[in-house]
Amino acid sequence: MAQWTSAVGSTQLARLITSQQARPAGPGTRRPPAYRALADGVRTLVLEGRVPVAARLPAERELAQSLNVSRTTVAAAYEALRSEGFLESRRGAGSWTAVPAGNPLPARGLEPLPPEALGSMIDLGCAALPAPEPWLTRGVQGALEELPPYAHTHGDYPAGLPALRQMIADRYTERGIPTMPEQIMVTTGAMGAIDAICHLFAGRGERIAVESPSYANILQLMREAGARLVPIAMAEGLSGWDVERWRQVLRESAPRLAYVVADFHNPTGALPDDDQRRALVDAARSAGTVLVVDETMSELWLEPGFEMPRPVCSFDPAGSSVITVGSASKAFWAGMRIGWVRAAPDVIRSLVAARAYADLGTPVVEQLAVNWLMSTGGWEQAVALRRTQALENRDALVAAVRRELPDWEFEVPKGGLTLWVRAGGLSGSRLAEVGERVGVRVPSGPRFGVDGAFEGFVRLPFTVGGALADEAAVRLAAAARLVEGGAGGSAQQPHTFVA
Ligand SMILES: Cc1ncc(COP(=O)(O)O)c(C=O)c1O
Repeated sequence: MAQWTSAVGSTQLARLITSQQARPAGPGTRRPPAYRALADGVRTLVLEGRVPVAARLPAERELAQSLNVSRTTVAAAYEALRSEGFLESRRGAGSWTAVPAGNPLPARGLEPLPPEALGSMIDLGCAALPAPEPWLTRGVQGALEELPPYAHTHGDYPAGLPALRQMIADRYTERGIPTMPEQIMVTTGAMGAIDAICHLFAGRGERIAVESPSYANILQLMREAGARLVPIAMAEGLSGWDVERWRQVLRESAPRLAYVVADFHNPTGALPDDDQRRALVDAARSAGTVLVVDETMSELWLEPGFEMPRPVCSFDPAGSSVITVGSASKAFWAGMRIGWVRAAPDVIRSLVAARAYADLGTPVVEQLAVNWLMSTGGWEQAVALRRTQALENRDALVAAVRRELPDWEFEVPKGGLTLWVRAGGLSGSRLAEVGERVGVRVPSGPRFGVDGAFEGFVRLPFTVGGALADEAAVRLAAAARLVEGGAGGSAQQPHTFVA
């Protein structure tokens, strides 16, 4: 039996490949042989989700005709794709797209900046802001006052402190999504939440559909769990999800999980609207896919009076298709390491049971601090400070980049903490590498893609403002000039810590 579930015609594929090759390749990039360019084109289409996984590709002769190249070129391109795991073929059944098992890791370290480099380097690696004081200090003081009764217990709360579970549940209920504390598990950040969900639902070799691009560390976490990532391209600009494409891919590859950052997507800043949210939940339900919705950025709308779309889980009243993940890291401070999962009570029970073999629980003092802040109104005041700070940073960064790098392209999101920038035809990996030499650390696009997609992009976070934003853009422009002049040899990015 053939393994493919849909087909891409030769004219359609030729059109997609031609439009992709029309993108500027960037100075310093040598023109590859025709077969390699074709293989890279198909690979990128799969990686960006523009051609679904398990789609039948045209026969070599047909594609050669549509592209006006020799059949040998297409045969060599197909052979290269097969050897890289992006194509499978069987005599009589044809060839269909695939993703390599385990999606091998890009060989890059995840090391935080060494302390001696902190003074001189402008670090644009992390999309996270310093604590919104005085609220961190007040929260910790409040926690210490509430600590004594807990000090008499063993201190293990694998589901989270009852008071914080209740508080988080009440906050969902206030947003119009009735929630009981039994539906909440407190985790060690959103990372801990998604790690636990992946281990419960997606074993080795299981497919997980992800937005393309997506948040780098979660992609890495999923790869390390042995998942096969199925990338689905975001719609153009900030317009959110291409729901038709999601529907098709979910139907055809029936992944166990789908992971989306619905609110101010990291890295693009996109914000899908209510219709897209409803449609995605329906598509996931029909495909039997569990939709994991990362709401880490959901409180970070930056412009006054902005109205957020409804939470994705509000379109899943039965609570069977959507698992929501939240975090204190962006709205408050990443150093708290507090996150949570909202799911059906039986899912929470399974996650809690599995925790006995993982981290056992989240530190009590930090949970008490978040609970204190949420119950005293300190949280809202801290988040308001956060919004003001991020908005000022965003505007300063946008102005500085437009001034120093006028051919870099991006759209300005209304929230979140990131700007996704097409770097004027330059290689993002080289910019990252050369940037380190000129004192600006910036993560390259491929970190946010699956297997090398988005080479022409970098991500800039709203973490610096004022004169520092100006200086960051000046250094980026210096890096760009060096790359244009041929600097930067390897495509590897050393020591980048991305959050
Ligand atoms: C979308 C998204 N999810 C998760 C995280 C990590 O969150 P946490 O610090 O709560 O583990 C980040 C941090 O940048 C993020 O942007």
